[in-house]
Amino acid sequence: MEFFLDTVNLEEITHYQKVLPLAGVTSNPTILKAAGNIDFFTHLQAVKERIGEASLHVQVVGETVDEMILDAETIINKLGKEVYIKIPINENGLEAIKRLKEREFNLTATAIYTELQGFLAIGAGVDYLAPYYNRMENINVDAPTVIESLAQAIRTTQAQSKILAASFKNTAQMNRAIRAGAHALTADPDIYRQGLAMPSIQKAVTDFHNDWVETFKSPSIQGLCQ
Ligand code: G3P
Repeated sequence: MEFFLDTVNLEEITHYQKVLPLAGVTSNPTILKAAGNIDFFTHLQAVKERIGEASLHVQVVGETVDEMILDAETIINKLGKEVYIKIPINENGLEAIKRLKEREFNLTATAIYTELQGFLAIGAGVDYLAPYYNRMENINVDAPTVIESLAQAIRTTQAQSKILAASFKNTAQMNRAIRAGAHALTADPDIYRQGLAMPSIQKAVTDFHNDWVETFKSPSIQGLCQ
């Protein structure tokens, strides 16, 4: 099971890198827009250095096959061959993926709303494919069914692709994606924060601490050794 951050915010990445079993960072042009006035390559290089061995996924912005390939080449030339290139699954995206796969680029298929898109991405041999959970729900597509079907296809064909579910607005959606068979999730740091900040979790931690202090008259276990 892999967890990714869907952000390029360096402070958030620095913090959650310490907290999560972080497999990588995903980005797209909307996420970059939210980051404000950044230098694209410098900022992504900083993200890459910050996350070390974890993977960085960067999206192409062109719409034609040649534009996508040129974007991919430029990203790789500037940031390194280990970066995963995110390509939307439409006709042009699939053609670009086919050509980049021959050149052994790391590939993440994105903007997946349907089973057919997912099946084609798996068939094309992408490393990851990103079904858009919340966006599917917004258009009345049953997201868990799509993910379940993609997971089944990966199992039956013994494909190497992993489902990197994305586009989450709450932790319940993340739970359902994993239950449906997603191998990995990417989410905004706020969603992880919400998931771990339930008052009942903190109450349990505080209650146990208070019981300890009351019983042993020491603020810590180590305090008993002094
Ligand atoms: O990584 C892309 C995906 O997370 C899109 O999310 O929030 O724009 O639907 P969102």
